[in-house]
This record gives sequence, structure tokens and C-alpha cells, in this order.
Amino acid sequence: MSEPVAITEEAVSQAVEAALSAIGGASSVAELKAARTAHTGEASALAKLNALMRQVPGDQKAAAGKLVGQARGRVNQAVAARETELAEAETAARLEAERVDVTAASTTWRAGARHPLSLLQEEVSDIFVGMGWEIAEGPELEHEWFNFDALNFDEDHPARAMQDTFFVDPPERHLVMRTHTSPVQVRSMLDRPLPLYVLCPGRTYRTDEFDATHLPVFSQFEGLAIDKGLTMAHLRGTLEHFARIMFGDEARIRLRPNYFPFTEPSAEMDVWQPGAKGGPRWIEWGGCGMVNSNVLRAAGIDPDEYQGFAFGMGIERTLQFRNSLNDMRDMAEGDVRFSEQFGLVL
Ligand code: DAH
Repeated sequence: MSEPVAITEEAVSQAVEAALSAIGGASSVAELKAARTAHTGEASALAKLNALMRQVPGDQKAAAGKLVGQARGRVNQAVAARETELAEAETAARLEAERVDVTAASTTWRAGARHPLSLLQEEVSDIFVGMGWEIAEGPELEHEWFNFDALNFDEDHPARAMQDTFFVDPPERHLVMRTHTSPVQVRSMLDRPLPLYVLCPGRTYRTDEFDATHLPVFSQFEGLAIDKGLTMAHLRGTLEHFARIMFGDEARIRLRPNYFPFTEPSAEMDVWQPGAKGGPRWIEWGGCGMVNSNVLRAAGIDPDEYQGFAFGMGIERTLQFRNSLNDMRDMAEGDVRFSEQFGLVL
């Protein structure tokens, strides 16, 4: 554009036209900024026309000033209007680009994992079902009679204190959170026809500390067989078969004399774990024995006609030593990353 030499209407409108077309043509905030500098900045035609004011004779100064002032006003307004337009367009474009279709199907399905305690409980149940046993269940809120009395725990026998019991108010109802799955033995004997072969998995409660080897809420499985002519040999054979499926063909069991009120004789059962992490070892697994005749009688069974064997183990403990887990609390905390280590079994 040629340099203006005087403030004429023509020169002013030429500068305004040029400015408006540059402003209207700006397609981004950055381009608009450049157009603004070119058409309103110090080097612009309008600034130069303004500078010519000094040469305008006094009687024409007002008219010339108005001409230039209105021109600058129009250009600044056009810049502001275009700026708003561009900002809105840019926001709209960004919103469009970031649009989320809330109805679209998700593509990242995160597979969950069954809890290893559930898997182990099912694995054990399957082993016994495979031998023709049935699965039996009983209530977690249990009557003291089933939890203790029928199992031959004397009223003030010290064995009753062996298990730290959650007693449930009011005391006259004699309710406890069951301290073991053994009460399901009694329920099964009362409910089911003989002979009887049942496995009773389930949740149990004791007033234990929550630490690496104890949980106040844990689970056990209880086995009970009642038949004619059952002996310790049947108990041993059953447990050894069970141990081999759980720990491999080289697994063995050994029984050490112990005391439980509901079995006589009673034994502590150890398993020879061939595949243990630090090398093969004997590890204490649970209790067992021949069902005490007092227990049979409490359930209305004649001990001269029928004999029984029973055993009970902790599921958390089994998982802990089978999988070399340091801290039992991980089993209770419900973090899916713990379960995932055992595989995504659905
Ligand atoms: N009920 C016992 C406990 O919780 C475990 C147990 C021991 C169960 C010997 C039995 C048994 O059936 O015969 O410690």
C-alpha cells in the first residue's frame, strides 16, 4: 500500500477496508494477532494517518480527527468481534474433538479373578464329591449346644476355653459365632440317613488378633464319616488320598496323638509336603480322630452299631502353606491384585 500523504476520506477508508479484510480473513487467534499488529500497530497505515494530524491546519483538525478516530474505532471493534468468534470456534472444535460417546460399548474389559480361598474350598469339595461324599452346611450363628455341648465339651471343661469364642447377646439365648465347622457334624448326623459321608466347608469365628497367621473370621472344612465298622485305618487312607491330590503323589501324612473332646482317640495330622518352597517338609495341617461315642449318642446314634471318623482343617492355613504366603491378612483385604496372582479363573 502506498504511504498516505494527507488525511483524506479515501485514504482512511482504504486503510479501514484493508484492515477489515485482514481481520475477517484471520482464521486463528494467532493470525488475528498478526493482522491487528499490521493494521493498528505503529507501522500501520492508520497510525501513519494519525501521525499526519500534526500537519492538518487548525480549522480542519476536528474533522480529520473524527475521521481517523472513527476509523480506528471500527478496526478495534472488528478485532474484538473476530476475537470472540475465533475463541468460540476454537472451543467448539476442542469440545467436538474431545467428545465422549457415553453410549459406546467399552473396549477395555477388566477381567476379575475368583478369590483363591473360594477356589481352594471348591477344589477340596470336588475331591470329596469325587469319592462319593456329600457337601453339608450349617449356620454361622450357632447354638452353644451344637458348637460345644453336643461335641462333648463339658460345661466347665477347660477345652471350652481352648477356643476364643464370640458369645452373642443376650446370653440366655446361648448363641455363639461358631468357632469351628464341627457343629455341622452334629447337624448332619441328626438330619441325614446313615451311613453318612459329608464334607462341611464354611466360615468360622474366633476372638483372635488380626495378624500374619490369624484372622478373627476364617474358614475351615470338616469331614465326617459314619458307617459300620469304620476304623482309624479308613481315616488314614482317606486323608492320605486327599493329601496326594492336594500336594502331589509323594505326599504322605502322619498322625500324632492329641486331644479333642469330640474324638477318641484324637490326633494331630501332619502332611509331608514334597513341593514346599524351601524344600520338602512335614507341616501341621489339622486335627482328626474317631468320633467320640458321647457325640454319637448326642446325635442319637448307637456307638455299638456305628463308628465314625472326623477331621478338620483351616482353609486359610492350607492356602498359606501350600502357596508359601507370608501374611494371611492379604487373604482378607480384598485387593484384586492378590487374587490375580492365582490366575484369572472365572
Ligand atoms: N474343630 C477343631 C478345631 O477347630 C478341628 C478338628 C479337630 C476337627 C479334630 C475335627 C477333629 O473333626 O476330629 O480346632
